Amino acid sequence: MEAGLSGELDIRADFPILAREIGGRPIVYLDSASTSQKPEVVIAAIDNYYRCHNANIHRGVYTLAQEATELFEGARERIAAFMGAETATTIFTRNATEAINLVAYAWGRGNVGPGDTVLLTQMEHHSNIVAWQILAEEVGAQLRYLEVGDDGLLSLDQLDAELSTGRVKLAAFTHISNVLGTINPVAEIAARVRAAGAVSLVDGSQGVPALAVDVAAIGADFYVWTGHKALGPTGIGVLHGRREILESMRPFLAGGDMISTVDWEHSTWNELPWKFEAGTSMIAEAVGLGAAIDYLAEIGMDRVRAHELDLTGYALGRLTEVDGLRLIGPPGADLRGGVISFEIEGIHPHDIAELANRDNVCIRAGHHCAMPLMRRLGVPATARASFGPYSMPADVDALVDTLKRGCEVFGL
Ligand SMILES: Cc1ncc(COP(=O)(O)O)c(C=O)c1O
Repeated sequence: MEAGLSGELDIRADFPILAREIGGRPIVYLDSASTSQKPEVVIAAIDNYYRCHNANIHRGVYTLAQEATELFEGARERIAAFMGAETATTIFTRNATEAINLVAYAWGRGNVGPGDTVLLTQMEHHSNIVAWQILAEEVGAQLRYLEVGDDGLLSLDQLDAELSTGRVKLAAFTHISNVLGTINPVAEIAARVRAAGAVSLVDGSQGVPALAVDVAAIGADFYVWTGHKALGPTGIGVLHGRREILESMRPFLAGGDMISTVDWEHSTWNELPWKFEAGTSMIAEAVGLGAAIDYLAEIGMDRVRAHELDLTGYALGRLTEVDGLRLIGPPGADLRGGVISFEIEGIHPHDIAELANRDNVCIRAGHHCAMPLMRRLGVPATARASFGPYSMPADVDALVDTLKRGCEVFGL
């Protein structure tokens, strides 16, 4: 590694799984865009919760139940503060997908009608497409897509043109593309959408793990993300919403916890955020996500970003050493999160991933839950390497080595 590159942040020792070997050799984990690895503090927080504090939350008067409630609600408070959001408008869901569905059902059904437009982009994950397709079919609305340029970027002129029709009710767009790595100017897009009288939703699934995100500064009406990509456990996601919109919405799922009163015929709803949290919550997962956020806050997201920016720049440079490799997405690291999709002429992406696995290099190949984007790019699939804050230049070196060996195997 060259001097001045990302060596400053070396937190690998905090992640027990990174010490694991397979076949007597270390693993090189380059699939953090799918899910991140978990630091010891997160594993310990979940373990400690079950060993020492487990009880159902909110209703119990006994000490254990109070402790569990405090741990759960305390995690929410710290997560909201980390995100620059209000605690009451920070709602726990199972994942980002469920958060988007919550908005599509509880807001969409009441606010989108025949002839209205739901505006998406060609770089969305299926999570931020399919729920809107079902809504549009049901209510007679149309879907429109902002195009992805050959540089992997969206056009704000096209956004303005779409908004000028006056038909856009909602614009939903990703903060960082899980395929291209593109960082979208979400505050600027949200401001334009708002000025046009429409509602905005940002899919922050790749944004929260990689950038210092301030939900209030971004100014979108909804901002969703998923815990397991941000060093937290699976089974928990977050929806931040604008208070007046959340208050105007009907509940999404119905049952215990989300009610204030229940009579034979009718019920009334609990206050925010519990109105949208039906049934027993993912208590241990919230505790684990709280620990993940504390860990990231202690490092500082600016440092995480600086580290991944350096690493991405280093990787973009080194990957050009591989014959026939074509990088997909914006040319500069500064326009990207730590996600690098690529193709190698003459080798199918699945074969690339399979060959890499022989060297314990974990990369992903496929459509990455973005089939419309694959169509736009004119490829059936890509190979993808993605970084977390624990990724190091040595991981990139191992990737480049395995790709070079793969090219030899294929006689390229
Ligand atoms: C950009 C983006 N949005 C949404 C999701 C869905 O996340 P989850 O499956 O945790 O809901 C992903 C996961 O890959 C993603 O990368």
